[in-house]
Amino acid sequence: MAAHRLVVASLLFCCLAEICYGKVLFSSLKRTLDVTASPKQGQVLLSGVDKISGTWALNKTFPAGTDSSYKTIKLKLCYAHISQLDRAWRKTVDDLSKDKTCQHKMVATPYDAANKTVHTFEWLIERDVPQATYFVRAYAFDSNDVQVAYGQSTNANKSSNLFEINAISGRHTSLDICSICFSAFSVLSLGVFFYIEKRKGKSQKQ
Ligand SMILES: *[C@@H]1O[C@H](CO)[C@@H](O)[C@H](O)[C@H]1NC(C)=O
Ligand SMILES: *[C@@H]1O[C@H](CO)[C@@H](O)[C@H](O)[C@H]1NC(C)=O
Ligand SMILES: *[C@@H]1O[C@H](CO)[C@@H](O)[C@H](O)[C@H]1NC(C)=O
Repeated sequence: MAAHRLVVASLLFCCLAEICYGKVLFSSLKRTLDVTASPKQGQVLLSGVDKISGTWALNKTFPAGTDSSYKTIKLKLCYAHISQLDRAWRKTVDDLSKDKTCQHKMVATPYDAANKTVHTFEWLIERDVPQATYFVRAYAFDSNDVQVAYGQSTNANKSSNLFEINAISGRHTSLDICSICFSAFSVLSLGVFFYIEKRKGKSQKQ
């Protein structure tokens, strides 16, 4: 009974929270940020080695004050469609709290509405970034840490300026060799151990 009440209460709380904060739908955001990224269409970068640089700026075609609620700009690495196929864990969902398109945080920077210059960023591709095809997206967040606008290095269809990131295979190969060596060594030592034990047992019997 108590458990039921708890479930109902938490469901209610979730609903209230949803109503209070409102779902943020990606389709409701304006593309007010112009974003560029250094990789060229089809370029292949290496995680842990290569850097992604680029720029972001407020698009000047929007009326003054458009950015009045912007507090933070966060740049993220996002999966291109081809790397989302058959991978529910990278799925694009319009409700941004459930969206899995942009999982890798690159850079976060405070927004200064007085500074209209083109801002630059640079990010060393982290080693844990999986091999896939990507683009870069920037979100503007307000003071409640809710997305209020965006910009991206690709077109609306997410079909242009896509680049690939390769995981370093050398590291994995040497790791694999290492683990094979260790496994072989442990099997061997186990064998030697049993052999010695057996001999000991035999000599004790005799
Ligand atoms: C600014 O926004 C307008 C309208 O959305 C768009 O046509 C233009 O290409 C954008 N400018 C840049 C530099 O992306
Ligand atoms: C505006 O932003 C640029 C790039 O982020 C920075 O180098 C510059 O110092 C800023 N200017 C002011 C006045 O804050
Ligand atoms: C997006 O793709 C559709 C169909 O594939 C095409 O008709 C449309 O022009 C494309 N839009 C952009 C912005 O590339």
